[in-house]
Amino acid sequence: MKRPIVVSGIRPTGYLHLGNYFGAVRSFVKMQESYNCYFFIADLHSLTTHPTPDNLQAGVKQVLSEYLACGIDPEKATIFIQSDVPEVTELYTFLNMNAYLGELERTTSFKEKARQNPENVNAGLLTYPVLMAADIIIHKAQFVPVGKDQEQNLEMARKFAGRFNRMYNCELFPLPQPFTFDGGDMIKVPGLDGSGKMGKSEGNGIFLYEDPKEIRKKVMRAVTDAGPTIMNSPKPEPIENLFTLMKIVSDPDIVQKFDEAYARCEIRYGDMKKQLAEDIVNFTAPIRERILDILKDEEYMARVAKTGAEKARESAQATLKEVKQLIGVKRLF
Ligand code: TRP
Repeated sequence: MKRPIVVSGIRPTGYLHLGNYFGAVRSFVKMQESYNCYFFIADLHSLTTHPTPDNLQAGVKQVLSEYLACGIDPEKATIFIQSDVPEVTELYTFLNMNAYLGELERTTSFKEKARQNPENVNAGLLTYPVLMAADIIIHKAQFVPVGKDQEQNLEMARKFAGRFNRMYNCELFPLPQPFTFDGGDMIKVPGLDGSGKMGKSEGNGIFLYEDPKEIRKKVMRAVTDAGPTIMNSPKPEPIENLFTLMKIVSDPDIVQKFDEAYARCEIRYGDMKKQLAEDIVNFTAPIRERILDILKDEEYMARVAKTGAEKARESAQATLKEVKQLIGVKRLF
């Protein structure tokens, strides 16, 4: 049996944090065992915000090393850099002809970004979902593991794929479905600032690459309160968040110990944070070591990127050939 095809990408705009790991990358590592996975670094998408060339280069290198350090295995999955596969941008051009201004303008993430940066509402931003659709359907993906914030973009990808199929009276593209593991494997990791999830832009993250000293500092600074005064009271969000983090990285008996202390109004947040910091460090330190080793080995990274690009291009070229035939841009004379 052919393995179902999975595509997912991450923009190289910063270090991966615990939220990225438990929300996505860990699932990628599992998926590579039973799916035909394409995991890529979406460097073209990150151009909407005009990074400097140095920052872009460094960002791509960082994410690549982090993917590998987390256990994405180039022998099992196809790991590549988006701009190494020019077929994607070619398909993007074709898809753009059937992507309408109205629907693109109505996309939530477009409106959001346009509102935040009114001086930089560029065409790349507007057609961001088209490029993303090209990333996905060029490999005829069936599944796309993405978080909630990307669901609308994925819906657009289905729309563009379906539209192409109808327009050219074919069934070239499967409609890509969002992927979620049974049992909610994609954990939402909270931030340390009392509310909401851990995010790149929220500035509340702990990075896999982070120095242990810095992790301890960040955890010790996490928002808490004066502590419960009534036995068995419910936990306010900042406290619940600390427990959620602890459940992710600590042994269950440790979580239980602090949980019971909380219920008895005997909890000492200082102790809890110390424990949490150590457990986070124990988890991230080996990954950090691997990131550092991989970053030093540019030859290895170049080899991975090259092999990945070759595999991705092979799949992309096959699809693009069919697309061109259907559209009629393939020379017949
Ligand atoms: N837009 C995604 C994000 O910001 C990144 C991305 C680009 C992507 N192309 C994709 C994700 C294709 C999944 C599939 O997170």
